[in-house]
Amino acid sequence: MKLMITKNNIEGGDKAFEIIKNGMANGAKVLGLATGSSPLPLYSKMVHSDLDFSDIFSINLDEYYGLAPDNKQSYHYFMQQHLFDKKPFKHSYIPNGLAKNLDEEVKRYNKIIEENPIDIQILGIGRNGHIAFNEPGTPFGSLTHVVELSQNTIKANSRFFDKIEDVPRKAICMGIKSIMHSKKIVLLAFGKAKQDAIKAMIEGPVTEKVPASILQDHPDVTIICDPLAADKLS
Ligand code: F6R
Repeated sequence: MKLMITKNNIEGGDKAFEIIKNGMANGAKVLGLATGSSPLPLYSKMVHSDLDFSDIFSINLDEYYGLAPDNKQSYHYFMQQHLFDKKPFKHSYIPNGLAKNLDEEVKRYNKIIEENPIDIQILGIGRNGHIAFNEPGTPFGSLTHVVELSQNTIKANSRFFDKIEDVPRKAICMGIKSIMHSKKIVLLAFGKAKQDAIKAMIEGPVTEKVPASILQDHPDVTIICDPLAADKLS
């Protein structure tokens, strides 16, 4: 694992942008993307850059189950608003939160990931060490699956909803095995709330209790965090 400690999230976004830019210059065609606050400075940098994504595919990590793409809390909406409206990709894949048949949707998404191997995967990390919606206890061998969100995550994500009852209880999520198949992984984490997760991911044992700890076994991971998030590292 390579660790980069940046002054703040803006500088962190700049570093992640450089990795994407270099990757694309070297032939990267598929970007794995995350939602949440951590990648926002990166997306802003992408939007304001002159990089052209019209020949690039993107595959998002996850989507809430039950939310339509035009629902303001959906991850579809988030990605349109922060990136795709301003920088269209050749094709952007996101799980369908309104899928009638969840088994079919899971299969469809796995096929997309299989057919479009991810060159660079952007990740955030939850306070409990989750990556995507892969909560503690998710098998490392998991592919795309339907997740029951933990109370921890429902509480953390309720800041984006009017009230906690509005937070969906389920999501469709790329599995840990698929994430580990990405050629390169860039994980962004900023602020005090991420201290314990960062320490456990980098210095703790590789355990399904801390999903992100599996990244220790990936050959090309860059962790970008600010001094606060890195504060508990020894
Ligand atoms: C989002 C996702 C989540 C977030 C994580 C951190 O697609 O998969 O795992 O990356 O919850 O969220 P933020 O960046 O808002 O702290």
